[in-house]
Amino acid sequence: MKIVIGCDHGALALKTAVKNVLSELSGIEVEDIGTFTEDSVDYPDIAERLCARITSGEAERGVLLCGTGIGISIAANKIRGIRAALCCDVYSAKMARRHNDANVIALGGRVIGPGPAGEIVKAFMTESFEGGRHARRVGKITALENK
Ligand code: RB5
Repeated sequence: MKIVIGCDHGALALKTAVKNVLSELSGIEVEDIGTFTEDSVDYPDIAERLCARITSGEAERGVLLCGTGIGISIAANKIRGIRAALCCDVYSAKMARRHNDANVIALGGRVIGPGPAGEIVKAFMTESFEGGRHARRVGKITALENK
């Protein structure tokens, strides 16, 4: 599975930590789209660039990080075909996959530490969508994009 990861300057260290965790998972290839320095960047630009890799089919899932994870998840969810879930715990990350078929997870570099973030991302990458009644609901989310 191809994963794309990106962050703004508020989550550089957490991005590195999460990348290290992802590199230990078998069957996962990670592409890092930046940012790579502490210089200030605008999180909507990172969200747009990363999400384009997913909507084009080049990557299956994404990890977006900013200071809180809030701004970058709001931006990502404006993009057609993206379901981004801001997660601070493992349970939410599992449910984001099982019930919401989220294709992007957002994390806050100033909110959670590398240990919990690693567990959260591992859960997100290993859980599957349950379909069934959840597929109907996700279909309704998609329909909202066309209203
Ligand atoms: C950048 O300082 C900060 O606003 C950003 O990383 C994020 O927390 C926004 O939601």
